[in-house]
Amino acid sequence: MMRMMRDVNAMSKKEKYLILSYLAKYALPVIPEDRLKELDSSEAKSFKRVCSQCHDLPDPKMHKQGEWKTVLKWMKENMKEMNVPIMKQEEEKQILEFFKNSQGNKNRYRISIS
Ligand code: HEC
Repeated sequence: MMRMMRDVNAMSKKEKYLILSYLAKYALPVIPEDRLKELDSSEAKSFKRVCSQCHDLPDPKMHKQGEWKTVLKWMKENMKEMNVPIMKQEEEKQILEFFKNSQGNKNRYRISIS
C-alpha cells in the first residue's frame, strides 16, 4: 500500500484550505447526533426509514419548508434511477410534516434553491 503512495505528494496548505472550504460550503449537512434521539414521532420515523437509505440524514434546517418539496421530488427521481422502492404518498406527507416541525428559529445551514 505504502509503495503505491510513494509518488503522491502531500497536499499543500493552500490545497488543503481550498478542499476544506469546498466541503464546508457544499457537503451535505447531516442531522447532529444529539438530535437523533428526538426522532421518535411517526413522522420522524418515516424520515429516518426513507431518507437514510442512500446517504446520511440531512439536517432539516438546511432548507426552507417550501424547498423541501422540491428536494423530495428530486429524491423520488433518485429512487427510480437507483431502483430503491419509491416512497408512498403517505410517507412523503409525513416527511414534509417532519420538516415543518423541525425548522426551529435559527437556520444555520440554510442553502437556497433558486
Ligand atoms: C435512492 C437513493 C436516495 C434516497 C432514498 C434519498 N436520497 Fe437524497 N440524495 C441521493 C443522491 C444520489 C443525492 C446526490 C445527487 C442529487 O442531489 O440528486 C442526494 C442528495 C440529497 C440532498 C442534497 C441536495 C441538496 O438539497 O442540495 C438532500 C438534501 C437529500 N438528498 C435529501 C433527501 C431526503 C430528505 C430523502 C428522503 C425523502 C432522501 N434524500 C432520500 C439519493 C437518495
